[in-house]
Amino acid sequence: MKKNISLTRYLVEQQRVDGLIPGQLRLLLEVVARACKRISFAVNKGELGDVMGTAGSENVQGEVQKKLDIIANETLIEANEWGGHLAAMASEEMEGIYVVPNRYPQGEYLLMFDPLDGSSNIDINMSIGTIFSVLKKPEGHPGVHDSDFMQPGTQQVAAGYCIYGPQTTLVLTVGDGVSMFTLDREQGSFVLIEENVKIPEDTKEFAINMSNMRHWDAPVKRYVDECLAGADGPRGKNFNMRWVAAMVADVHRILCRGGIFMYPWDKREPQKAGKLRLMYEANPMSWLVEQAGGMATNGRQRILDIQPTQLHERVSVVLGSKNEVERVTSYHLEADEKAL
Ligand code: F6P
Ligand code: MN
Repeated sequence: MKKNISLTRYLVEQQRVDGLIPGQLRLLLEVVARACKRISFAVNKGELGDVMGTAGSENVQGEVQKKLDIIANETLIEANEWGGHLAAMASEEMEGIYVVPNRYPQGEYLLMFDPLDGSSNIDINMSIGTIFSVLKKPEGHPGVHDSDFMQPGTQQVAAGYCIYGPQTTLVLTVGDGVSMFTLDREQGSFVLIEENVKIPEDTKEFAINMSNMRHWDAPVKRYVDECLAGADGPRGKNFNMRWVAAMVADVHRILCRGGIFMYPWDKREPQKAGKLRLMYEANPMSWLVEQAGGMATNGRQRILDIQPTQLHERVSVVLGSKNEVERVTSYHLEADEKAL
């Protein structure tokens, strides 16, 4: 496919020429992209648009909400509630699901999103983003329930994110590889810049919040220690470390040039499986990474195979270049076997 075509044309070709997406899904993705465009303009205004700082509230996970968290959440809800393609939405920033009101026939899809990922970067003019995932609403019953969302990541029909960085770039998969579109502000449209994105299988770059090292489990510590030992250690090569503290940006770097990203379980809150959310963060990112030839596990199991039991479920995340993710996963499985 040609570069420089608009997202709209790309999606139309995916629908008409390749028969890859149904019309309703195409329209839904257009609406999500339009909402991301609006969020991008708000992000860009910064202090001039009164979008910086905290909102004086907490979300369902007890995290302090920034003004932009709320603006991004409302923008996504407003854009999607009248489109007619959705039955319901779920957001990291809302306790319960949002059922799209008074639609007949009811929309076919369910949308999940982290409206503004990497909130701590908002006030320092660093990259942040919106992450989204689309499921089909199960058929055979009226109304929408939380249980309709309890589908493993393998059931996603579209997933992506929009990163608000030096450029605004929307990254998308509908199960046919990964494509990237950068927002052309003069034209007002997303333009295809890259198709068939591929993550190199090997890497010398890792991303993890090193300040948590003392809280990690032994297999994660072993992996990072070996990276830090560099050319003199068992890996026989030097590694570099990068950490943006916004999953969207750390994963974007990996899709652009490889690497491994980890947010593992740690001893600070042992009852939680991890920090990141399965439905809004891990599932969409894992599908993108797999579609680009990479791998994503919770240290033991493929993330996309996990059967969710709660909307705001957390998960350990290890994703990126295939050979490195395989290594970290094998360290966990070896340790489990020894412990038997
Ligand atoms: O959404 C959670 C998040 O902001 C991720 O984007 C990011 O990877 C992580 O938290 C950073 O958290 P911390 O700075 O606590 O390690
Ligand atoms: Mn997030």
